[in-house]
Amino acid sequence: MTKPPIDFHQGFHDVDATGAGDAFEGYLVNVHAMPNWAESRRKRFELAAFREGERILDAGCGVGMDLAELSACVGKSGSIVGFDLSDDLIARARQRAAKLDTPISFQQGDLQALPFADATFDAGWSERVLMYLENPLAAVREILRILKPGGRFLAGEIDFGAIWSTSPDEAFRYALQQHTMKSVRNPGLSRQLPGLCVQAGFAKIKVQPTMGTSHDFSITERAANLVWHLDRMVEDGEVSRGAAEDYLETQRRLSRDGGFTSILVVPNLVATKRSAGA
Ligand SMILES: C[S@@+](CC[C@H](N)C(=O)[O-])C[C@H]1O[C@@H](n2cnc3c(N)ncnc32)[C@H](O)[C@@H]1O
Repeated sequence: MTKPPIDFHQGFHDVDATGAGDAFEGYLVNVHAMPNWAESRRKRFELAAFREGERILDAGCGVGMDLAELSACVGKSGSIVGFDLSDDLIARARQRAAKLDTPISFQQGDLQALPFADATFDAGWSERVLMYLENPLAAVREILRILKPGGRFLAGEIDFGAIWSTSPDEAFRYALQQHTMKSVRNPGLSRQLPGLCVQAGFAKIKVQPTMGTSHDFSITERAANLVWHLDRMVEDGEVSRGAAEDYLETQRRLSRDGGFTSILVVPNLVATKRSAGA
């Protein structure tokens, strides 16, 4: 097995400390292109119903993979602020933003303590970020604070407990899933999020799930960083090297023969702040 050297899930806690910005950019570009993730993103754009001229916070913007679509929604009269903990990823996002018509600025910082005045954004947009935070409730409270009355918060977080894939050996697949979930700080975040939004004080919460399908194991293999997790399982004595290699080979063969399916469930969420006077 070739060995990607990084646990991306852990690395997202502080990308700059890893010094591996290129690898994180490659990972984010790959996930953005996944057909089953793209399907969930389309649903979030539908739920967001962005309008020309709106001001959006891209909370945890990473390398800016969503900026082009956000910009197309709010146009030249709108504005976007890309916000992220990583200076390295922001520098990469800045390059993507340079090609777009919308005024886009960037700020480095921690989502759990936003450096923006109250009620200054029409919408907050966040993809696969809250699951990496120490205190997601603090971040949800901060996003509520910086939204204008009636403003919307859009969130897309993966449900790790509901990832479904073809598997020749269910016990093996389950062990691999459990191993992956151990890398994620809050693997159950998507299930907690509606409650956190209520606790923070959002007035209305709507969850519309998407169930995206992919038949290409190579996409799953890269996005789920499977080789890295299998290597760790071998090192920890959870499975033998032979069993890990067999698992990968069987999935790759199934994929070549048209028998591989992976289903990703994303409970897309839109939470709305109380309108003025409501
Ligand atoms: C999985 S990436 C998602 C990036 C982007 N939303 C996308 O979909 O391509 C998670 C992002 O959250 C950022 N992040 C992690 N902890 C953060 C924090 N406390 N405050 C702000 N951003 C944070 C990481 O630097 C990374 O860019």
